Amino acid sequence: MTKNKILIIDDEEDIRLTLEELLVRTGYQIQGAGDGIEGLKLLETFKPELVITDLKMPNMSGSEFISKAKNLVPSVDVILMTGYGDKEIVIECLRQGLFDYFDKPFNYQKMVLSVKKCFELRKIKKELSDEKNFTENILNNLHEIVIAIDNQGKISYINSVTINLLGFKAEELIGQSLLLLIPDYDSFNAVAESKESIEQDLLCAVKGGGEKIPMTLIVADFIDNAGLKKGKVLVGRDVRELRKLQLLTYQTEKLASVGTLAAGIAHELNSPLAVVLGYATEIQKIIKESDYNPQKNEDVISYLGMIHKSATRMKVIVSNLLTLSRKSEHTDPHELNINELIKEAFAFHKTSFEEKNIDVGFFLSESLYKSWGDPDQIQTIFMNLLGNSADAFGEITDEREKRVSFTTSNEVLMEEGVAKPVLKIIYEDNACGMSESTVKKLFDPFFTTKSVGKGTGLGMSVTLAAIKAHKGTVSVESELGKGVKFTIHLPAVTE
Ligand SMILES: Nc1ncnc2c1ncn2[C@@H]1O[C@H](COP(=O)(O)OP(=O)(O)OP(=O)(O)O)[C@@H](O)[C@H]1O
Ligand SMILES: [Mg+2]
Repeated sequence: MTKNKILIIDDEEDIRLTLEELLVRTGYQIQGAGDGIEGLKLLETFKPELVITDLKMPNMSGSEFISKAKNLVPSVDVILMTGYGDKEIVIECLRQGLFDYFDKPFNYQKMVLSVKKCFELRKIKKELSDEKNFTENILNNLHEIVIAIDNQGKISYINSVTINLLGFKAEELIGQSLLLLIPDYDSFNAVAESKESIEQDLLCAVKGGGEKIPMTLIVADFIDNAGLKKGKVLVGRDVRELRKLQLLTYQTEKLASVGTLAAGIAHELNSPLAVVLGYATEIQKIIKESDYNPQKNEDVISYLGMIHKSATRMKVIVSNLLTLSRKSEHTDPHELNINELIKEAFAFHKTSFEEKNIDVGFFLSESLYKSWGDPDQIQTIFMNLLGNSADAFGEITDEREKRVSFTTSNEVLMEEGVAKPVLKIIYEDNACGMSESTVKKLFDPFFTTKSVGKGTGLGMSVTLAAIKAHKGTVSVESELGKGVKFTIHLPAVTE
């Protein structure tokens, strides 16, 4: 067993050696020093737990030594040997945490008893602190939020998991009302006044305001050993990740059920819709070319325009639902001429673009690679982009020249050291653009900023799904008020 270490400092060698001999015999490990300077050095090298020091010594007084020693090693204990008339200094030293003092000449046996008492107390203190550390470690390793409040709702304990999570310092929270962390009165009252264990979803404040963290808390009464109610203990969990997962599951389930339903309905609707669109276009053409009753014809043309617009909208919804329900299975993949698909998609929107005076530019590479996949899905991508721009131009009030454009080109991307030919499609508009938060949610299923009947929020999520199903990528840049730019890459078929 390792022996407890004691340092004895006294310039009177007789006393030092007698004490040393006695304490060695009692079972301690001892080192001696003739003054405070030597004593401080030994404090660092010998690392004693207890120092017995004389008050009056050359070079450094005992009281100066105590204050320096406590600064260096706050846990060290000190017993002081004093002479006659040193009472005031002793009182000062007691304030600094002196363990005991003896007037010279002292009874050696009493000194040994005091030393024993000192080590017994140190042992108890260490056990208590180990126990506290053990409990503290359990509370922190749980990775749960643990807060205790007193009967007035003031925080009496908070574990470091919670402190780190919320960004406060412990001293900023201890003694403060729990309202600081749960600023919503209803939630605070539900916690503070609960009669039994409750489970509560609430938002916890983070230092500096701003974001609040959703958490689930279980609240229980905090009863001490004497059976007295001391307050409440709150144990909880940060549920941000769980909420995200729940939302994702909900959306996936919703998508799956929409997909199944859509497959049947959308397919049935598609053919009659094509007929309505086709004939509306044809009749428009015939009436434009005839010269019979121009006034009446204009009305008919405008009504047909409306039929056309609504049918186009339905066509986009049906295409989205079909793409969604088919997911990534291509039952019948084709070689794709992307330039043609762009033009075909635009044909559906032509009438509404003309009506809104939106210019369209096609900068299509004549030698564009072919791609491979489902032409309907790819056409759906372009129809969604165009439909969104048409809506976005409706949001601007200034007199700008409205413009959208498609630019296609061939590119070679390096993927893990292998050159991969791809088609690059850039789509741009100069309409209302998007805020940063809209861009973040753009591809989320069911995200829309449009009113009911104007947008399902499926367009961009279907677009992303279709691009991914074709092993392509899409990125978007946008600035509020300035328009959007989509860059799409699709793999090329080269031979
Ligand atoms: N070109 C664009 N300019 C400005 N905002 C856009 C543009 N494209 C998309 N957005 C924004 O992104 C949102 C989501 O688009 P998405 O196509 O997924 O759904 P939607 O257009 O609202 O509904 P649906 O596609 O069913 O008509 C839109 O509501 C709109 O706020
Ligand atoms: Mg859309």
